[in-house]
Amino acid sequence: MSDDLFPVPADWAASARIDKAARAADYQRSLEDADAYWLEQARRLDWNTPPTRASESSFDEADFTIRWFADGTLNASVNCLDRHLAERGDAVAILWEPDDPDETPRQLTYRQLHAEVCRFANVLKGAGARRGDRITIYLPMIPEAAVALLACARIGAIHSVVFGGFSPEALAGRIIDCDSTIVVTADEGRRGGRRVPLKANVDTALALDHCSSVHHVLVVRATGGTVPMQNGRDIWYDEAMAQASADCPAEIMNAEDPLFLLYTSGSTGKPKGVVHSTGGYLLWASLTHQLCFDYRPGDVWWCAADVGWVTGHSYIVYGPLANGATTLMYEGLPNWPTHSRIWEIVDRHQVHTLFTAPTVLRALMKEGDAFVHVTSRASLRLLGSVGEPINPEAWRWYHHVVGEDRCPIIDTWWQTETGGAMIAPMPGATDLKPGSATFPMPGVEAMIVDGEGRPIEGEGEGNLVIARSWPGQMRTVWNDHDRFFQTYFTTFPGKYTTGDGARRDADGYYWITGRVDDVINVSGHRMGTAEVESALVLHSAVAEAAVVGMPHEIKGQGIYAYVTLNAGEVPGEELRRALIQWVRAEIGPIATPDVIQFAPGLPKTRSGKIMRRILRKIAEGEVSPQALGDTSTLADPSVVDDLVRSRLAFA
Ligand code: PRX
Repeated sequence: MSDDLFPVPADWAASARIDKAARAADYQRSLEDADAYWLEQARRLDWNTPPTRASESSFDEADFTIRWFADGTLNASVNCLDRHLAERGDAVAILWEPDDPDETPRQLTYRQLHAEVCRFANVLKGAGARRGDRITIYLPMIPEAAVALLACARIGAIHSVVFGGFSPEALAGRIIDCDSTIVVTADEGRRGGRRVPLKANVDTALALDHCSSVHHVLVVRATGGTVPMQNGRDIWYDEAMAQASADCPAEIMNAEDPLFLLYTSGSTGKPKGVVHSTGGYLLWASLTHQLCFDYRPGDVWWCAADVGWVTGHSYIVYGPLANGATTLMYEGLPNWPTHSRIWEIVDRHQVHTLFTAPTVLRALMKEGDAFVHVTSRASLRLLGSVGEPINPEAWRWYHHVVGEDRCPIIDTWWQTETGGAMIAPMPGATDLKPGSATFPMPGVEAMIVDGEGRPIEGEGEGNLVIARSWPGQMRTVWNDHDRFFQTYFTTFPGKYTTGDGARRDADGYYWITGRVDDVINVSGHRMGTAEVESALVLHSAVAEAAVVGMPHEIKGQGIYAYVTLNAGEVPGEELRRALIQWVRAEIGPIATPDVIQFAPGLPKTRSGKIMRRILRKIAEGEVSPQALGDTSTLADPSVVDDLVRSRLAFA
């Protein structure tokens, strides 16, 4: 951790809408006069019926409720599109940069995007979509992804975006869980010059057992690659759009109606469908985008995430478009065809704010500064970070080499569950410390508690919890409200458990220390160790598997799997490779194990519980008896010696 302070730069201090005193006063008011504060904030949205009530929420078991603006009605697509038409209809809404730098970028004005969204909303209706239906979106990073999201919002259908890097198996699981009736996909995606067979993956997914709810697949022609179309089920996007009217009245939704669901990994079980609301979520995405990044009309905003993750939902689509911003969408990879690509895009489109992940910075930093220096980056004023703790070294590089000491670094801590940034700096209001996400946003009553739930005041370290509801909070787990309560509100009763650890320093700055549960963060992507374990044990050679995170220079954390084989199976390189391939096919390339260690047995307590603490230490290469701690409660302590021996053998 670093205690250096980077004060608010003079230009930001002079121009920003919120200074230090305003931030502090705003925060206090948001907690002390919450109803009035939030009803006032709600006015940043256009409502059909403005709400008269703010939060009606309780985290207690007896009256567990999360509800915001419950008597308000609105439509999210109207807020992102229609209301901007009069003032900035011809301003660019989406600026699209293709994978191949020699291709021409595309742009869609608010008026054009509005027309496309209305057309596609009519196409969806024509395909049978109704308010409340679930629609799965499995698209590459092309403007049609934003069109699809907003078209669902327009007709009140609930979108469920599945990241294009997930396998057919993973896609099928997500379709089945929410009974999706329509899938929107493309012939193929493109990333770093390679093709991703999206439509073929959909076909494979829909042919799997139990994946029978889908009656239509809408296919965007993105690459022109040949794909088989199933008669009666599959529809070409462009053909349907050509027939569709650009007039589509928006469905009036209640603030609490679900806007979307998005699957995310937890410490146990299958990924859960995180449900976000229409009013509270949209307000949170829009407000945090404004507060953290002080967006001004005309600025080019670039969130370099994928729309398959919550960051893409909140900060490529909903937040920026609700704020009338020009949002850049990039199809490809940050380091292709060269390690300068990301900075070339900044120059090409005169990007004002870049929002990316530490893993990207670490990977580029390793390649040397020359790739940055060949570009100008003079348009940059602000830099953002998200997805995992940013190590001070990467922070400094981002600040000094990329931003030439002129751009504040906005390190935003949040989660799929929180809808938008929860702890983050504001450029005109917050002195920065490299590696700290700084202070809570308005309304976010962050607390640090010890293992028994006792609050730690002042300086200290423990579990990060949130003591009251905020508008962008997830409302439930799709189809499993009990799981929602059990997962987030029982560890520390009456509080939302984030699953993260944090330290508060003497100046009140928060430092996120990482997950305290069995979730690992690989390149800013969340992975449940249980998911990788379930995939491994499906392989016929595997008897048992235990997965833990390990430190990784670029990815932040890597995936370390201990595998016990069935009798008669021979451990070796060939099987190792086969298992890695297996996991990639079951979940997707993001779940590729970095290390597989064959283990004759796993360290278990007498009641059969795997002691992950020991496995984590061995994965980290810490194998001394002091590091491993007490092993006397294990059913068979000699298992640990075997693990250490084989770890040392291949280290
Ligand atoms: O551990 C925290 C880490 O990412 C987790 C949430 O992952 P996900 O739901 O996929 O959302 C990622 C995009 C918000 C958190 O529990 N995390 C996210 N941002 C930060 C972070 N850890 C430290 N600093 C951050 N800025």
